[in-house]
Amino acid sequence: MKKTGVHRFTASLPGDLLRSLDSMSREKGYRTRSLAIADMIRSGIIEHRQHHLDAEIAGSLTIVYDHHQRNLQSVLTSIQHDHHRLILSTLHVHLDHDNCLEVIVLRGKAAEIKQLAERIIAAKGVKHGKLAITTTGKDLPA
Ligand code: NI
Repeated sequence: MKKTGVHRFTASLPGDLLRSLDSMSREKGYRTRSLAIADMIRSGIIEHRQHHLDAEIAGSLTIVYDHHQRNLQSVLTSIQHDHHRLILSTLHVHLDHDNCLEVIVLRGKAAEIKQLAERIIAAKGVKHGKLAITTTGKDLPA
């Protein structure tokens, strides 16, 4: 198979599933069924690759915490300095008088990114944290 260009392939699906696919594609604003399917495949590949612990991934960790929590800010800062190679950028927003939201942009091996995210989320006083994993863009055709 050629590496570039568009290839056609035949797939068989139950009628109901195909109708659901078409209605979802329309609702999401895809111009064609193929574009919707290509995005779903990319998403599946990204989801799969994060289980390869050595694979390089990118991601963003969003956390919400109370900045009055004793020691929390210094704990978070220490963790981030310990892993500065994995952290590309941090965005801090003061949500209200008490609560802060931080988005930490990460890139590195899947295992290291997940471990760092778990450590930050587990810090006492972090109310909620969620890691969104994506691709670095390498090795994933558009
Ligand atoms: Ni703040």
